Amino acid sequence: MMIFDSHAHYDDAQFDTDREALLASLPLKGVKKIVNIGCDLPSSQRSITLAKQYDNIYAAVGFHPENLSDVSEEALEEIRLLSRHPKVCAIGEIGLDYYYDEFAPEVQRHWFQKQLQLAWEEQKPIIVHSREAAQDTFDLIAQSKVRHGVIHCFSSSAQMAKEYVKMGFYIGIGGVITYKNAKKLVEVVQEIPLERILIETDCPYMAPVPNRGKRNDSSNLVYVVEKIAQIKGVSPEEVAAKTFQNAENMYFGKF
Ligand code: NI
Repeated sequence: MMIFDSHAHYDDAQFDTDREALLASLPLKGVKKIVNIGCDLPSSQRSITLAKQYDNIYAAVGFHPENLSDVSEEALEEIRLLSRHPKVCAIGEIGLDYYYDEFAPEVQRHWFQKQLQLAWEEQKPIIVHSREAAQDTFDLIAQSKVRHGVIHCFSSSAQMAKEYVKMGFYIGIGGVITYKNAKKLVEVVQEIPLERILIETDCPYMAPVPNRGKRNDSSNLVYVVEKIAQIKGVSPEEVAAKTFQNAENMYFGKF
């Protein structure tokens, strides 16, 4: 099985003790490509460092809505320069998080719009984080020119997933799909075509059942693949192959 982890945070301190051994072991477990995601300037730089170190790792750069302490026009110009590195394949993660209230919604919207514009100018797909801000996230994306990217760790309705798919976006599915209370997300997977699904760990967080609560890594994606296969009534091999191709198309295809 060939697996593409479309969203990981291997620069996280939780991997400091065994990062090298773990990353070396993943290709042997079928994990052939990984995109490591930035959340601010230092983590975006760390993502590029990892991408330079490992052939199968690529990077995304940007400011997460929870990490806006150091954002500025100048910082975004640095993100722009970083985004031109040959192994940077997306702007992210960017978006809105109204559950997290350290930064006011209007502040979050301002920097989200700025980064949507940056992604458009640099012709890069976006990786979107959205929590308790579904309609505002959708509206700002719809008002922008960007039509390439993924709504990561999707947590909204099947109806909204279909709207995103209509606009050209992919839907990111991770460990949550294996949780007992994932009824709404199961409906999302039922309602959208497999051609529009990306699989993701968001590791070290969001480990799927049976490893829920433990540190997550890309080898756990087999459980996500199996669950999607079960919902879609196809083989796990087909889910892995299709989602691999989807991630290839989104991150490296024609913009
Ligand atoms: Ni993430």
